[in-house]
Amino acid sequence: MTDLFAKYDVPAPRYTSYPTVPFWTDSPTTDQWIDHLNKAFAEPSATWSLYFHLPFCETLCTFCACNTVITRDHGREEGYVDLLSIEWNLYLDRVPALTERPLLGVHLGGGTPTFFAKENLERILKPILLRTRIDQDRFEASVEVHPGHTTREQLSMLHELGFTRISIGVQDFDPEVQQLVNRHQPYEVTKSVTDSARELGFKSVNYDLIYGLPRQNPERFRETVEKTIELRPDRIALYSFARVPWIKPAQRSYKDEDLPVGGEKRALYELAREMLGLSGYVEIGMDHFALPDDGMAEAQRKHTLHRNFQGYTERRTTVLLGLGVSAISETPTCFHQNEKAFPVYERRVRSQEIPTLRGHILNEEDQRLREQILQFMTRFEVDLLPAQREDAKTFLQPMIEDELVRVTDHALRLTEKGTPFLRNACMFFDQRLRSQEQRPQVFSQAL
Ligand SMILES: C[S@@+](CC[C@H](N)C(=O)[O-])C[C@H]1O[C@@H](n2cnc3c(N)ncnc32)[C@H](O)[C@@H]1O
Ligand code: SF4
Repeated sequence: MTDLFAKYDVPAPRYTSYPTVPFWTDSPTTDQWIDHLNKAFAEPSATWSLYFHLPFCETLCTFCACNTVITRDHGREEGYVDLLSIEWNLYLDRVPALTERPLLGVHLGGGTPTFFAKENLERILKPILLRTRIDQDRFEASVEVHPGHTTREQLSMLHELGFTRISIGVQDFDPEVQQLVNRHQPYEVTKSVTDSARELGFKSVNYDLIYGLPRQNPERFRETVEKTIELRPDRIALYSFARVPWIKPAQRSYKDEDLPVGGEKRALYELAREMLGLSGYVEIGMDHFALPDDGMAEAQRKHTLHRNFQGYTERRTTVLLGLGVSAISETPTCFHQNEKAFPVYERRVRSQEIPTLRGHILNEEDQRLREQILQFMTRFEVDLLPAQREDAKTFLQPMIEDELVRVTDHALRLTEKGTPFLRNACMFFDQRLRSQEQRPQVFSQAL
């Protein structure tokens, strides 16, 4: 396997969208984006979900690849609440279906959503929840938290508003690893937030862990996984450290020799996978684990697992509307991203503009490939069109020879041995990437 890890450890997208963001070419104007939204909502069965990007964090974890604003100035909260409110009202004016079609989910991501005081989180959520048509039977609301910046009062308020899922950033329990990535988070703090969430009635607790961080090795990582198992989250996202120093210069602070790469890095995942398997967790998709009675495991069994910009999710809605700086939205035919630079986002929203930065209008081929990639990423198997069969055999020949994938008469299948190489196999469908002679250096390594 070590040779295979060396062979296939190439830059590869994570396929949380297709086309992937660097290959968005056909950008909509704001008017076109609104047309795509209204077209999607015109379907009587249309449903939607809402994502808020809350970018502030008090300190920078040096591994972080998220779009953040690092500040200790909590005076900034109120201004941001106002921006979200203006943005929401801009949409309400132009997309009336937002108050009519069933809202199935809300997700608070970041940054650190719990940077915001309880009152300000409430000011963001309440007016919107009151104006929309929540489908109580299907509604799921979730929040990402940094346990070092989360109070029981915040969680209690969120739970009262209908939040039942919490995702806790853990990353690694080892103090030396934490020191190197500038994230100081004692075990007791993680445990305390986990206990509070459970006592308050949150029904699903997720932990984010990362493998591939500096100085991680099997011995240390075993302890992190043991501690995780002890606290028994319902779900675990075990992310591969995405190293993109050309975008996130803080990642340059690590010494090369401290970073596990290739087979060494993958061994950390395999170790966790084995330990979690023995403790009753089921592997979901590419980098998630869940207890068998958790909704995500059920979604995998029922083939309703979905993947979007937030990674694997239990449910698919027709529209995902993202509010806040850098937030991404999607409809069946269009992607849309808000301005990423905070001052530009702020200026445009204050001048009553939907802050379109870029997006992509999907042509028919994009839409078909997006469905195939989605199916392959969630089920590890996908039907091929007759015209794709020969191409698959040629493009994937090395992976076929290495017994990582199988191409049958009508389908492409990932083998058990091929599980770590899902991103590599997915590149077969990525016509936009394949048609580039020179691939831009934009993606992290596949493994
Ligand atoms: C917005 S943060 C979660 C909430 C909170 N800010 C925190 O850190 O606890 C989203 C998650 O992305 C993951 N993440 C961030 N940068 C990453 C990177 N470079 N590679 C892999 N995962 C990363 C981390 O696991 C993190 O918990
Ligand atoms: S990992 Fe979370 S807390 Fe750390 S910088 Fe990134 S978003 Fe902020």
